[in-house]
Amino acid sequence: MRHAYRTALVTGASSGIGESFARLLAGRGADLVIVARRAELLDGLARELVERYRVAVEVVAADLTDPAQRAEVEGRLRTDPVELLVNNAGYGAFGAFAELPLDDHLAQIELNVTALVRLTHAAVPGMVARGRGGVLNVASMSGFAPSPGSATYGASKAYVASFSESLHAEVAGKGVHVTALCPGFTRTEDDVPANLLWLRRDDVARAGLDAVAAGRALCVPGMQYKAAFPALKLVPRPLLRAAVNRMWQQAAETR
Ligand SMILES: NC(=O)c1ccc[n+]([C@@H]2O[C@H](COP(=O)([O-])OP(=O)(O)OC[C@H]3O[C@@H](n4cnc5c(N)ncnc54)[C@H](OP(=O)(O)O)[C@@H]3O)[C@@H](O)[C@H]2O)c1
Repeated sequence: MRHAYRTALVTGASSGIGESFARLLAGRGADLVIVARRAELLDGLARELVERYRVAVEVVAADLTDPAQRAEVEGRLRTDPVELLVNNAGYGAFGAFAELPLDDHLAQIELNVTALVRLTHAAVPGMVARGRGGVLNVASMSGFAPSPGSATYGASKAYVASFSESLHAEVAGKGVHVTALCPGFTRTEDDVPANLLWLRRDDVARAGLDAVAAGRALCVPGMQYKAAFPALKLVPRPLLRAAVNRMWQQAAETR
């Protein structure tokens, strides 16, 4: 599906799924603001997209866990409105909860939750006033199941999915689309074929962009994950907990 967003701000555009969002949006003619910490990667991407697609691309090098740097991005969203905000920047620290430093847990919440809420809060009032806009929030399938070994990450993505669905309902009648994109395992390198477990980043990004353009609350990309999604709700929770815990323990032992 083609979307009609003419301007977009993409966080975490320096690599992975966020880079795919930027490439796809530029290919469809959107002017971009791309945000991440690694300025040199953003600069290289911007040069390439300007040359290839003749769109305007502005680079904002910012650490979204840093309140001052984040405030600049929020300010931009308030005063220089974009039609589509893609809250993609996110990370997971993996390991037993008690063995990881507390700061690792808090940094995940700061990026995956606080930054996402703050940027959304900066963008949505203007979108509602204009009667037009989209917010695409990258959650994860891990938000729908217990996540031993990545408890804080899973909980942060559960927050993103729930928050996005509620906001979707609030603003749906106002011309603003809010969508939670919930990928399963996604290869972040290029030229990797999709298989039963792994999705390709371009496919994930494309599915998300199509979903927000269509005004869908939730997007689970990939046939295999679409099929597994209802089963997550049907499997008795104690069984699900035991299964994912066994997987995590085995993965930890083989490390
Ligand atoms: N890959 C998967 O299997 C998968 C599955 C489900 C959901 N997701 C979600 O998809 C999103 C993208 O992840 P990815 O897999 O594409 O990972 P990635 O390649 O590591 O990309 C993460 C992006 O976020 C940026 N970022 C990280 N910390 C940041 C910070 N403090 N401030 C600003 N930007 C920051 C990174 O750029 P800099 O390092 O340059 O700052 C990078 O551009 C995340 O929200 C992730 O949770 C991924």
